[in-house]
Amino acid sequence: MKIIIINGPNLNLLGKRETDIYGNLSFEDFFNTLKEKYSQVDVSYFQSNVEGELIDKLQEVGFSYDGIILNAAAYTHTSVGIGDAVKAIETPVVEVHISNTFAREEYRHQSYISAGAKGVILGFGLQSYELALESFISE
Ligand code: DQA
Repeated sequence: MKIIIINGPNLNLLGKRETDIYGNLSFEDFFNTLKEKYSQVDVSYFQSNVEGELIDKLQEVGFSYDGIILNAAAYTHTSVGIGDAVKAIETPVVEVHISNTFAREEYRHQSYISAGAKGVILGFGLQSYELALESFISE
């Protein structure tokens, strides 16, 4: 089973960025633990701060992988292009967020990703990614 986690802007700063909201762990450390725990799954990771690079990656993996776990971060709330890419590809996408975006500013309540996603998991910290991975494994 081939799964990819795709992270959007500023998520490369996890562990340093607004730690009261996003926690103290870097994504690399979290990802290494996740890979060890789910060694039966071929899980990879891509991060970019650039909208077009996220769209390119979705198109690249979106016809061959078994699942995509997407945290488009701030682009979630602004990007028609990423939303369209999610709808255009065949691989199911689970949208994740670390924080509960509905408990935050109103502009974070809108998502251009959700309509094309298989499901949405948010508010569980980094565990949101693990729950998304479990959802593909237990299919
Ligand atoms: C986020 C929530 C977004 O509103 C924010 O812009 C992020 C991270 C989350 O994982 O909680 O960068 O996607």
